[in-house]
Amino acid sequence: MRVDFSPPDITEAEIESVAQALRSGWITTGPKTKEFERRLATHCTTNKVACLSSATAALELGLRLLGIGPGDEVITPAYTYTASCSVIYHVGATPVLVDTAPGSYHLDYAALADKITSRTKAIIPVDVAGVMCDYDALFAQLEAVKERYSPKPGTLQEVFDRVIVLADAAHSLGASYKDVPSGAVADFTAFSFHAVKNLTTAEGGALTWRSREDLDDEQLYHQLQLYSLHGQSKDALAKTVIGAWEYDIVGPWYKCNMTDIMAALGLAQLDRYPELLARRRQILDWYREGLADCRIEMLEHYQPDSNSSGHLCLVRLAGMSQAFRDNFIIAMAQREIACNVHYKPLPLHTAYRERGFDIADFPNALAQFQNEVTLPLHTLLTDEAVQYVIDSFRQSYAQCEAAGL
Ligand SMILES: Cc1ncc(COP(=O)(O)O)c(C=O)c1O
Repeated sequence: MRVDFSPPDITEAEIESVAQALRSGWITTGPKTKEFERRLATHCTTNKVACLSSATAALELGLRLLGIGPGDEVITPAYTYTASCSVIYHVGATPVLVDTAPGSYHLDYAALADKITSRTKAIIPVDVAGVMCDYDALFAQLEAVKERYSPKPGTLQEVFDRVIVLADAAHSLGASYKDVPSGAVADFTAFSFHAVKNLTTAEGGALTWRSREDLDDEQLYHQLQLYSLHGQSKDALAKTVIGAWEYDIVGPWYKCNMTDIMAALGLAQLDRYPELLARRRQILDWYREGLADCRIEMLEHYQPDSNSSGHLCLVRLAGMSQAFRDNFIIAMAQREIACNVHYKPLPLHTAYRERGFDIADFPNALAQFQNEVTLPLHTLLTDEAVQYVIDSFRQSYAQCEAAGL
């Protein structure tokens, strides 16, 4: 039996929704995108959502909205995908990487105080695997050193009196922290709808934020529209009104809008999302039970008041070496099961090494990575396939042990 890692779960409902958009005569940003934004805002319990072409675009525009650029520092964990950090370079700011807490996939909140200087403007925590960070612990750390925060005059930074939290929630749409949905916990939140994500628009992302009295939601949304569409004062739909051809370019900005074709796919996925989340939970429970007696540490996704989106099944092969893990993945592949590793810490990648980061400074992230393996978790997995993964896990593990690895 072949088990893919994370194929998209596309039904006739998604195909019909996309076909409708195609037949409608309007395929780029328009009514479907606006509807998807409204539906996502309801889902997240926030006032506004801006849909974009990716989470990377959402993170980058979040930094730009905040006026973060050269001379500023932004903190993010070493244990993440490159997008959490590359956007800091994109805006010309300086990334500051933090290690994970021992035995954790989340950043070490206790290590933050040492990293925060008067140049630190924002932090990008990562909700790895769909499990939201401990935002109370994070905010408490930022509050404790708020006297170091020095907002740039004339920017949105002045609305805040401590380092701003821009969550990388690429994995956590549908998750909650202390009963508050992802999107309404951090100051700003970026989601991904990339093809492998729980809810996909093929490529796609969104930015939302927590409303505050001193933030003008409409103005922020408008600025995001300008940033994502060349700084053009009218979008393509507004220009179709007969006679309304004229527009202005108010800034030489970017091009990262969502199309109505993508939004149509997202709307159909959102309709199915409660059932998709429930199935992910069922599979995770099944993996946990089926592998209960194995020498592994499986990431806990569900707490009484905090639910994960169940995006990735992260397992550590307790006490085992990197060579054992790598051979285990090969043994699973021989059984036609696709596994992955989340994540190879950033300092192990060429780009980050060349920029001066040294893995020796991130021992916890390295330890977390060395024996981590991510099992297939998606909503096309049949019950039989889940059982096959469990059985193959045991066989592969035994095979690697017997080989003396
Ligand atoms: C943690 C994390 N952040 C950001 C991204 C970037 O998402 P996108 O491809 O939508 O830009 C990803 C994508 O895999 C991710 O895993």
